[in-house]
Amino acid sequence: VLLLIIAIALGVSLSRRGNEFKNTFMQRCEKFEGYNCTEIWDAFQKAYVDRDQCDVPPEAYDSLIEAAPLETSCNRMMFWSKTKDVAQDLAAKGDCFLTVERTLLGSVLDGLTWCGKRGSDETLTTGCPEWNECVKNPVRSFWNRVSAAFGDAACGDVTAMLNASIPTPFDPKSIFASIEVKRFKSSKVKKLDIVLVTEMNSVTNCTNKSLQDLQNILTECLYCSSDPNKSCGSCW
Ligand code: APR
Repeated sequence: VLLLIIAIALGVSLSRRGNEFKNTFMQRCEKFEGYNCTEIWDAFQKAYVDRDQCDVPPEAYDSLIEAAPLETSCNRMMFWSKTKDVAQDLAAKGDCFLTVERTLLGSVLDGLTWCGKRGSDETLTTGCPEWNECVKNPVRSFWNRVSAAFGDAACGDVTAMLNASIPTPFDPKSIFASIEVKRFKSSKVKKLDIVLVTEMNSVTNCTNKSLQDLQNILTECLYCSSDPNKSCGSCW
């Protein structure tokens, strides 16, 4: 009997956490006008419920992105890498910059953890895989997918805030380098401004090798693809 009571209490507490998660999702979503948040929640859940926690690929969120397409805002889009706090602070002040965390989907899921499990339609918020535990975990795949959409949407003059207190501000393994930059369209992105932010000590400057790599990628690949006479095969 005691075991049964403990099991029921645990079940109630877990489903309450799932409800809390849904409430947070809905409250954050409803701050954006003109969207059907119930539809967005349904599309979101479909990506990961009743699935193995390490087998949710980024494409599982395709219908979510369709249900809530990313807002575009030419000349205001701000990308960042290893500078989350300062980039978010700047985006929160005034209307100069739009980070993915200020779009509907980014803001709704910023800072949250979720996953499902096989044989259940629940949303769990504890016991979910860590970021590096497996590549196809629900949270990591969401950020990869939404970042791809944000990269696709980039237009006009684009800004990226990178960290000058680390040796490789443009880290090939980062989402910014491995996903977002690759989705920039030469027909839409006019220019990329890099803002280097120094935390305590600056270990690098604009002559950094990784920033030169970034410049080469943009000139070789982004602009190459706008010239039909060039072969761009070796870019990515
Ligand atoms: N463990 C936990 N979380 C991680 C880890 C990790 N090892 N690596 C990345 N993350 C998550 C964190 O939430 C972190 O704040 O990804 C976020 C960004 O990681 P960074 O390495 O700082 O930067 P990057 O990989 O380039 O991603 C940032 O992607 O979110 C978009 O548009 C946004 O341009 C931005 C870029």
